[in-house]
Amino acid sequence: MQPAQPVEQPAPAPPADPAADREAAPEPTPTPPDTCDNCVALTFDDGPNEQTARLLGILAENNVKATFFVVGALVDTNPNLVRQMRDAGHTVGNHTYSHPKLPMVSSAGIAYQLDTTNRAIERAIGETPRWMRPPYGEYDARVVETSKQRGMAIAMWDDDTLDWKHRNPEETCRRAVDQAHPGAIILMHDIHAPTVDAVPCVIDGLRAKGLRPVSLDKMIPDAEPGRVYAQRP
Ligand code: NI
Repeated sequence: MQPAQPVEQPAPAPPADPAADREAAPEPTPTPPDTCDNCVALTFDDGPNEQTARLLGILAENNVKATFFVVGALVDTNPNLVRQMRDAGHTVGNHTYSHPKLPMVSSAGIAYQLDTTNRAIERAIGETPRWMRPPYGEYDARVVETSKQRGMAIAMWDDDTLDWKHRNPEETCRRAVDQAHPGAIILMHDIHAPTVDAVPCVIDGLRAKGLRPVSLDKMIPDAEPGRVYAQRP
């Protein structure tokens, strides 16, 4: 068998004019990875009620995603509001069915509080929450274990506005913004009108500090079931 004739190589193309090349096919600007380094999480507890609808409008106007820790009994009363939360891209979390102090409840009662709320949320939006927040921030090892078994992480907070106590929009805004830092979880309650009144100021103030309000699912996408995030200071 004859060795194959060497194939004549085509002449190499002349070096392209780099400027012309750039013009023909511009290098795509690489998108930097979204590390969420400046993210903070706005969280709203104890709804949904009629104030929640107004808040959803304010969040949409400002293009902000937040997190709602909903009470199961109110989910059953207002499933449409929970659907609106989901449709707008907010995170929906479990805040128990009837808002008891969980350390005072039997182990079966803790499971009941979490399960009935998860079922109410599933009925409303077809999804199971990945987050829970214990009412009053009170939890024990049973609450942690019961949440873990149900695939939920526990969200505490490290920026308390005390909005429920003073019911003052200026004070809610000042506390939320002054205590905010990258990675902070900010606690508010969407059932109070003065809190909802404060939200545009909170968003503007956070952005002025270079912070980006996002949902918990955005800030902590790989939340570990049974882990407690953001202890109170
Ligand atoms: Ni609560």
